[in-house]
Amino acid sequence: MNNETTDAAVARVHRSKADARLSYNRLSRWYDLIAGSAEKKYRDTGLAKLSAQYGEKILEIGFGTGYCLVSLARSVGAEGRVTGLDISDGMLAVAKERLQKEGLGERVDLHPGDAADMNFITAGSLDGVFMSFTLELFDNPEIPRVLAECRRVLKPGGRLAVVSMTKTNPPGMAVRIYEWFHEHTPNYADCRPIFARQSMEQAGFEIKDVSLSSMWGLPVEIVLGAKR
Ligand SMILES: C[S@@+](CC[C@H](N)C(=O)[O-])C[C@H]1O[C@@H](n2cnc3c(N)ncnc32)[C@H](O)[C@@H]1O
Repeated sequence: MNNETTDAAVARVHRSKADARLSYNRLSRWYDLIAGSAEKKYRDTGLAKLSAQYGEKILEIGFGTGYCLVSLARSVGAEGRVTGLDISDGMLAVAKERLQKEGLGERVDLHPGDAADMNFITAGSLDGVFMSFTLELFDNPEIPRVLAECRRVLKPGGRLAVVSMTKTNPPGMAVRIYEWFHEHTPNYADCRPIFARQSMEQAGFEIKDVSLSSMWGLPVEIVLGAKR
């Protein structure tokens, strides 16, 4: 599939970054109640595919309430380092509390900001990048930009694991209904199905592993890629 057909098929994002920040700030104290248990098994599969090792340096983009940061910080241990980047300072506050409660605050640096701009991270400095239900929040022209940034910050051979709502071709009924809600209520149905695997391939990642499952009838793709 080429860029043109991918872009044509994926719904656009009309919400501004300021509105995204506001919406996740409002959601931050409730997010685990609303989405926590439904999304857990997909995040866990993504974490298993990334398989962060002792001493590694890992970035999580869109860390939300910090569930995966805890797991990543345990995996990298005292010699490793985890960096988190999230646009919502509300989410950052919740994640910080969670890490402190777990006694892991010292291993994790949390940054507020937009993942379309990761200038604060040195090129080729990381072993792994993790993103769960976040890549599909970026508008079509930004997805390649975010993936290019992931590639830039990874060491050669570094891994990128992405958990994402995905489109099948042709899209099923659940996806069509979801896309209608995305178009009409972008603050509630803000993620939308994308072609994560193809986007990663187009960004120059070698695909190492893919699994496809379903959440409420919506396809979810969990993809592991490596920087060539
Ligand atoms: C759907 S939540 C997923 C949270 C977490 N990864 C999980 O699986 O539970 C998306 C997260 O991405 C963050 N986010 C949204 N747009 C972002 C952007 N442009 N840059 C960085 N983070 C962003 C939101 O604040 C939110 O915490």
